[in-house]
Amino acid sequence: MQSLKGRDLLTLGELAPEELAAVLDRAEAQKRARLNARHAPQPTGKSAALIFMKPSMRTRVSFELACVDLGIHPVVLGPGDAFSRNETIHDTVKVLERYVDLIVIRTFAQADVEEVARHSSVPVINALTDDYHPCQVLADLLTIREHKGELPGLTLAYVGDGNNMANTLMLGGALAGMHVVIAAPAGFEPRPEAVSDAVELAARFGTGASVRVVRSAEEAVSGADVVVTDTWASMGQEAEHDARVAAFAGYSVTPRLMALAKPDAVFMHCLPAHRGEEVVDEVIDGPQSIVFDEAENRLHAQRAWISLVL
Ligand code: CP
Repeated sequence: MQSLKGRDLLTLGELAPEELAAVLDRAEAQKRARLNARHAPQPTGKSAALIFMKPSMRTRVSFELACVDLGIHPVVLGPGDAFSRNETIHDTVKVLERYVDLIVIRTFAQADVEEVARHSSVPVINALTDDYHPCQVLADLLTIREHKGELPGLTLAYVGDGNNMANTLMLGGALAGMHVVIAAPAGFEPRPEAVSDAVELAARFGTGASVRVVRSAEEAVSGADVVVTDTWASMGQEAEHDARVAAFAGYSVTPRLMALAKPDAVFMHCLPAHRGEEVVDEVIDGPQSIVFDEAENRLHAQRAWISLVL
């Protein structure tokens, strides 16, 4: 396996299957060690810029704590700081790389994160864009592996908006040898490039994975090992909320829908959840829900990635 030192994390599709497995292995080992004994972090003299151009709770807290655990000083920048006063991406990155050893960025356009990575001499991590959420999917795969033992051959059904989570789950599932089925209404399907990239990854690495996009939530969930959903109106789409609620009628994860999955299927949601919309209380609070394990694993997955790239 090629070393991950210095590598960017932009979509997840840039990894090879053995690199993904190495990140999950590292995360599992570090998680065990952290739970068994909390040691005072040893300062490394390194620092990280954490840029949040969109709101965040889980990602911000987990990245700050992952950095502190690793002895890395985190500096958080908001929209009033980074790229403010018309400063270009180029100039911002060229300044930040003189200060820090790592840039983490949450923003709108995937093209902007890719531009940051092009200009940066330090590793860049995509902490969510409109199109991809690789940190969340690393945590999701870690969580599924913890609950199911292994990933290859599992069927993951994603129900709802074909958004950044759907796009990235297809890439991660393709690398992990899973069968990913996305159920979305017309006009809300995942990015065609993400579908073709996932199919290409599965073929290139011979992982045995498959990817399907279907219309019916019932068809997607039937016999699934993992059922996933996400908000119907992502950040920046709040004005479309009511129209989206109407468009996604029938895509809510209910006990009736979960009953079509395998009896031991798990339910996942990256949070924040909109109870009564994409999922109902009985499911998210029910025995099949592993949403808080999933949220916890953001810390372990990101800590593992940072420790490997630095
Ligand atoms: N799941 C997730 O990315 O949460 P935040 O938006 O709170 O960071």
